[in-house]
Amino acid sequence: MTSAAALWCLSLLVGQVVSSPLNQQQRPFLPSISSTDQIADTTVQNNNEVILDLLRRYAPVFKLSELEAFFPSSIEYMFPHYNFTESPSGEIRPTNHSIITRSHLDELPSNGGGLYLSINESHNPQPFLDEESEYLFGPYGLNDTMPDDRRGRVEEEVYGFGVDQGNGVIDLWYWTFYPFNFGKPVGPFGILGNHVADWEHLRMRTINGTPISADYTTHTGGRFSAGTYRWQDIEKIDGRPVAYVAAGSHGVGKLFKLVDITDDEGPLWDTKDHVVPAIYWDNSQNRRKLFHHGDLSWLNYRGKWGNKGENDCWWHRIVGYCQVVDAPWGPNRNFGLPPECILAPLTTKFSTYRFKFASNVLDWAKNHNIELVKIEQICVRPKTNPDDPDDPDDPDDPDDPEDPDGLDAELYDDDMEGMVEIQNVKSIIGFRGTEKHTVTMDSCKGRRFAVRAYKLSLCLLNGRCISTSNERKICTYEQQKRGHSFGSAVDLNDIDDWRWDY
Ligand SMILES: *[C@@H]1O[C@H](CO)[C@@H](O)[C@H](O)[C@H]1NC(C)=O
Ligand SMILES: *[C@@H]1O[C@H](CO)[C@@H](O)[C@H](O)[C@H]1NC(C)=O
Ligand SMILES: *[C@@H]1O[C@H](CO)[C@@H](O)[C@H](O)[C@H]1NC(C)=O
Ligand SMILES: *[C@@H]1O[C@H](CO)[C@@H](O)[C@H](O)[C@H]1NC(C)=O
Repeated sequence: MTSAAALWCLSLLVGQVVSSPLNQQQRPFLPSISSTDQIADTTVQNNNEVILDLLRRYAPVFKLSELEAFFPSSIEYMFPHYNFTESPSGEIRPTNHSIITRSHLDELPSNGGGLYLSINESHNPQPFLDEESEYLFGPYGLNDTMPDDRRGRVEEEVYGFGVDQGNGVIDLWYWTFYPFNFGKPVGPFGILGNHVADWEHLRMRTINGTPISADYTTHTGGRFSAGTYRWQDIEKIDGRPVAYVAAGSHGVGKLFKLVDITDDEGPLWDTKDHVVPAIYWDNSQNRRKLFHHGDLSWLNYRGKWGNKGENDCWWHRIVGYCQVVDAPWGPNRNFGLPPECILAPLTTKFSTYRFKFASNVLDWAKNHNIELVKIEQICVRPKTNPDDPDDPDDPDDPDDPEDPDGLDAELYDDDMEGMVEIQNVKSIIGFRGTEKHTVTMDSCKGRRFAVRAYKLSLCLLNGRCISTSNERKICTYEQQKRGHSFGSAVDLNDIDDWRWDY
């Protein structure tokens, strides 16, 4: 995003229009421009090679469920089946199949913006697919010469995106494609949420080439199977991450089931030597998304990867969707985001937060006479019922564990949103421009309150804060323990510069 656009976003956030145009003299925080284009080019080139290598090196292993029926495929597998495109207004056009290819997909009008690449076959299994549509099971699903004696193997490609975040941080995103997403049974309504084409991802973060964490995105299982995990906490094969894929919806989780790590011996999808790697943006400073050429041109396609959903069912007004829903967008977007949550070890007594601002925020702050930064530590605890005799928060309950380890971690689950009490601990420090800010503040107060997120505000000398960030979720852990733990104070070192405009 250009800095003018960024400023516009920022001004929207604070509800006022930036009045005077930027004075170049007043922008001390801008990074210095590199000396010659020639040098910059080779540096970028080398850096990109490093990123592409990382993408190949950490090719994940997906463990599919034994219950899976809808298997992954390459994008190419689906191309011949897209027989028409539909616009949001319902205009239908047959596709020219010499355009529906990896290297020409972006030649659709407006790079396909607003279009739905659509199949002509029925795609609403309730619960079974029509015979004409069975290609939606994917190549593996159609293969009837499967081994009985050993675990099946899926050999499809995975689409890797490398994102240089600066300071040695490279994020690796691995996107998987499936011809079809099988929805979930919802009582009398049948199976809801079916859609043509499914894109799901697993993401990893590396620092100077060493993996430090991975993000899982399964749609079920809450904080136990989704979120950001330390590299040491996750299952690996050959030094590469393993993810469990939920049957039907294909969300990738760390754990297949909530409690025990269960491997149900479904097919293995090892993506080693099957990564199609791409670079996401030009560099960590400019953050301008690349335009791709040749076999990667399909990444410029801006439309949806399957049919438009239905909205004519009678329960649409109640549940918000029908049996068939809109197909998803493609993968090539939003990779600038920080991980799902910031990993931070728990401490006792005090919390420490270290963070930096990105140059666009610094520019804005400079123009608005920002002198102070307010840090809010967001603490939550499960809402409890005072009349409940089993209430674990009852101070008179002798069985109530004092140790935060004894807390029922599930109670802090995101799915419980609205059922937690929130209380913030605040601190104000001086604004230090480009420097890393460090603040030490009180731990969460009150029994069972645990750190869940933090946010920042930019404030004037008189203490009035004129712009506030979103919350950044925090996943806390104990050094000597696997997985996440909950507690009232953290030692957080945020490596993603704060910018308001992701
Ligand atoms: C869709 O297009 C492919 C390739 O042109 C063709 O083989 C197939 O018959 C078409 N299907 C329908 C239903 O039009
Ligand atoms: C299909 O696209 C190709 C390549 O752009 C073009 O040469 C051809 O004329 C198109 N065919 C039709 C029927 O529009
Ligand atoms: C879909 O297929 C049917 C039967 O083959 C055909 O009559 C119809 O025109 C096709 N529709 C589209 C949009 O291609
Ligand atoms: C079907 O599975 C067998 C055994 O795993 C494999 O050798 C063969 O290549 C597969 N065929 C296709 C078309 O995927």
